[in-house]
Amino acid sequence: MLLLELLLVFQYILGITATILLPITPTKGGVVPLPQKSETYRDFFVIRPSVFRFKVTGYSCSILDEATIRYWILISESFSYFDLEKKSQLHKKIWKENVNYLGLLDSLSVHLENDCTNDEMPHLHMNENYTIQLDQTQQVIRSSSVWGILRGLETFSQLIYKADDTYTLIVNSTKITDFPRFSHRGLLLDTARHFIPMRLILKTLDAMSFNKLNVFHWHIVDDQSFPYKSSKFPDLSDKGAYHPEAAVYNPEDVEKVISYARKRGIRVVVEFDTPGHTLSWGNGIKNILTECVGIADKFGPMDPSKPKLYQFLNDFFQEISEVFPERYVHLGGDEVPFDCWESNPNISQFMKSLNLTDYSDLEGYYINKLIDLVTKKKLNSIVWEEVFDNGVELSDSTIVHVWKGDFNTTLYKVTEARKKALLSSCWYLDHLGGVQDWINYYRCDPYDFSGSDEQKNLILGGEACMWSEAVNEYNVMSRVWPRACAAAEKLWSSITPRDNTTITPAQIENMGSRLEEHTCRMNRRGIEAEPPNWPSYCY
Ligand SMILES: *[C@@H]1O[C@H](CO)[C@@H](O)[C@H](O)[C@H]1NC(C)=O
Ligand SMILES: *[C@@H]1O[C@H](CO)[C@@H](O)[C@H](O)[C@H]1NC(C)=O
Ligand SMILES: *[C@@H]1O[C@H](CO)[C@@H](O)[C@H](O)[C@H]1NC(C)=O
Ligand SMILES: *[C@@H]1O[C@H](CO)[C@@H](O)[C@H](O)[C@H]1NC(C)=O
Ligand SMILES: *[C@@H]1O[C@H](CO)[C@@H](O)[C@H](O)[C@H]1NC(C)=O
Ligand SMILES: *[C@@H]1O[C@H](CO)[C@@H](O)[C@H](O)[C@H]1NC(C)=O
Repeated sequence: MLLLELLLVFQYILGITATILLPITPTKGGVVPLPQKSETYRDFFVIRPSVFRFKVTGYSCSILDEATIRYWILISESFSYFDLEKKSQLHKKIWKENVNYLGLLDSLSVHLENDCTNDEMPHLHMNENYTIQLDQTQQVIRSSSVWGILRGLETFSQLIYKADDTYTLIVNSTKITDFPRFSHRGLLLDTARHFIPMRLILKTLDAMSFNKLNVFHWHIVDDQSFPYKSSKFPDLSDKGAYHPEAAVYNPEDVEKVISYARKRGIRVVVEFDTPGHTLSWGNGIKNILTECVGIADKFGPMDPSKPKLYQFLNDFFQEISEVFPERYVHLGGDEVPFDCWESNPNISQFMKSLNLTDYSDLEGYYINKLIDLVTKKKLNSIVWEEVFDNGVELSDSTIVHVWKGDFNTTLYKVTEARKKALLSSCWYLDHLGGVQDWINYYRCDPYDFSGSDEQKNLILGGEACMWSEAVNEYNVMSRVWPRACAAAEKLWSSITPRDNTTITPAQIENMGSRLEEHTCRMNRRGIEAEPPNWPSYCY
């Protein structure tokens, strides 16, 4: 053990070389992300998948009923190839004689303490707390909210493992009290640089629920394509998608994503990024983009001088506020190139009429109009950090999404200005770092800045980002998983003490072992996660 730790410290210092191949032992019933408080005992139960049932003992509703069926199937199917019933008979004697054997776990109580028929949609401040008790006296998952029950079911499913040398499934006697560190734990998926088919979006939602991520940030359109099929403006995707039928998300698809996510306690926060990143919009809607004069690009960002633009945005976001039940919308605002605005005399004229001297003020003018417009539709806004960096006055309900380097300084400034923040800077999944690069993501922490407690309380969480320039349906799953699990754990599990963001080699080793088991678990569940560590074998 000591040797292993020394090796790990070594590897950590050397920055990982291909010559040291660490054997990483998978855990047995290890949970990812790590629960807040967990005690495991040597006593264990045996589970027979064909007999096992969840017993709903408290309130129920469709989300809960469907979840118990889903997890029942997951538990029985994940292990079905062991042909457990037959073979476990042979081994009955072995575990019956074990002094730690507590008996068969043929049912687990699922106890929801409150009515869930009203708690319709997952939301920013949903309660995800739950407890699990698995001992001689009680075998139960408890929560006061259906979202907590979902997280508890996931944890329970991860506690089950195959015993050594037998074909028996066992679960250790365990006591867990769990709750999330942050309320916003997201995954951004860019479906515009490459089109990502529905089947993979749904699978991504499954994998998110296996990691207790609760926000699907759908970066649905960008310069390259506009796959969102608008009912009011069908030309947007007819002329802006890679293919008007094969590469679009129809209203039924969007509805399906929302309802599939809801059943897993996941919010769908859609992003329509403007005023930059909008070339594809210009194919379907004429006269909303800036015409560039005398530079290579023909068109640039949205043209804020055109009154028609705001009428269009008003109608478009009206549709969005009706299609998406989520009350936050991501308005983008990143990487607006100013050279095209600079080249256009109409824009100069317009700025003069408003006494604006700076292009960042023009961007501010546009974004403020947009935020006002969506606020009237009862939508809260999330914006990329440039909007804040450029000094745009923002209401306190607007969330600033930090993505650039030096994030500690930005988080400090944003929270000093009393704005809520999300962090993504260190969780860009498109940045590849070789074998075990999950460790880079694992070292990152949203509290890694020198702010006060009040400032830290304004950090709502963060998101891992899968920008899809180099990712399509064939590699998206393996690129996201299990690397995003490291971010998921940082966002769910607490650090102690609260401000000590230093990760120790022992913590990395512990996560490495759990990730080894968790990746095989995700593979069994049909997620094409790549190996997290060194050479290994999934039993
Ligand atoms: C479950 O119990 C076994 C046997 O005591 C142990 O090896 C294993 O680490 C335990 N699992 C967890 C997650 O603590
Ligand atoms: C969830 O648990 C945490 C830690 O005990 C507590 O601070 C928080 O208030 C709980 N949330 C709810 C909604 O009960
Ligand atoms: C400037 O505005 C006029 C009047 O709307 C329009 O005809 C012209 O094309 C615009 N020029 C540019 C470069 O956008
Ligand atoms: C611009 O500035 C001039 C002179 O200071 C002022 O008269 C005018 O009202 C200002 N216009 C706007 C739109 O603020
Ligand atoms: C950000 O990190 C750098 C390097 O560790 C440090 O010098 C600086 O003080 C930090 N800034 C803040 C605002 O925490
Ligand atoms: C933070 O944690 C690290 C690793 O456990 C430890 O070495 C360090 O002393 C701690 N620092 C503080 C200020 O508690």
